[in-house]
Amino acid sequence: MKIGLLTSGGDCPGLNAVIRGAVLKGVISHDAEFVGFRKGWKGVVEGDFMPIERHDVRGLSKQGGTILGSSRTNPFEGEGGGPENIQRMLDENGIDAIIAIGGEGTLTAARRLTDAGLNIVGVPKTIDNDLAATDYSFGFDTAVEIATEAIDRLRTTAESHGRCIVVEVMGRHVGWIALHSGMAGGAHAILIPEQPQSIDQICEWVESVRDRGRAPLVVVAEGFHLTDMEEAHSHKGLDAFNRPRLGGIAERLAPMIEERTGIESRDTVLGHIQRGGAPSAYDRVLATRLGMAAIDAVYARAWGSMVTLRGTDIKTVSIAEAVGTLNVVPDARYDEARILFG
Ligand code: F6P
Repeated sequence: MKIGLLTSGGDCPGLNAVIRGAVLKGVISHDAEFVGFRKGWKGVVEGDFMPIERHDVRGLSKQGGTILGSSRTNPFEGEGGGPENIQRMLDENGIDAIIAIGGEGTLTAARRLTDAGLNIVGVPKTIDNDLAATDYSFGFDTAVEIATEAIDRLRTTAESHGRCIVVEVMGRHVGWIALHSGMAGGAHAILIPEQPQSIDQICEWVESVRDRGRAPLVVVAEGFHLTDMEEAHSHKGLDAFNRPRLGGIAERLAPMIEERTGIESRDTVLGHIQRGGAPSAYDRVLATRLGMAAIDAVYARAWGSMVTLRGTDIKTVSIAEAVGTLNVVPDARYDEARILFG
């Protein structure tokens, strides 16, 4: 078979390890041929791809980013978009199947294309760990590691100055990175989108830390919002969907905390550093296993399926199970962490 690989959406440590796992398994077990579409669905819509040989994936599992490039192109839009055009492009180039590595948007598109008859298998990707039907996604462990190291460093400077530090981590819809890095780094409060809090409650946690002679450290996910929404909106306003604007939450919280508690406060936004660089050993192994399993799914002709981590096993589910619902932090996990706040 000739198999086309693509990486789409925001990048994520481990994408190259998936590509390596798929190519090695495909070549060694099935004598498969591979091409890589450049920049996600954009390469599919434009028929822009390159051959990938076994030697191209040598040493790739430790490399961050994606050798194929990525974009947020919608495959239903543009001149070469839509199932008929894409199928024609695949037929003309003798490409039998696509392995789409991506998050919610990529997999939703993959599902629609599969419903229209295309041969596609999905691999879940998100540092946010917000995809349903997989226990963990590769990239998450690396992001938590990077955030934890940053929190450890911020703690020493906070202690030196007796300041409150508010550190913002990624997590548009869910707070997994905040929860895990906050727990690992011993944060005094963890603020996540699933659990809105009042500014009074946050200040209570911060003051109780100060009263014990410590420097308060608050970890906030970018999608967190205050229950007293007016204050949250007063600085950045609402976005086009009438939701509080994303990002900048730490920048808004730090002055509010300082004003109410009198504790000098600073904010730090970790941003894309959480997505950059080499994947952790755990993510390399997970991504490699998912890449290999995607080849099994292709040879089983399990179109519309997605490979997934269940416990410690790699399984196959339908893409439909993975999209449309978010993998949110359960209340019990937050309550467990909350015991450590203040
Ligand atoms: O990969 C998901 C994510 O990390 C979100 O947490 C964040 O909001 C988003 O990507 C930002 O991505 P970009 O700047 O590439 O649009």
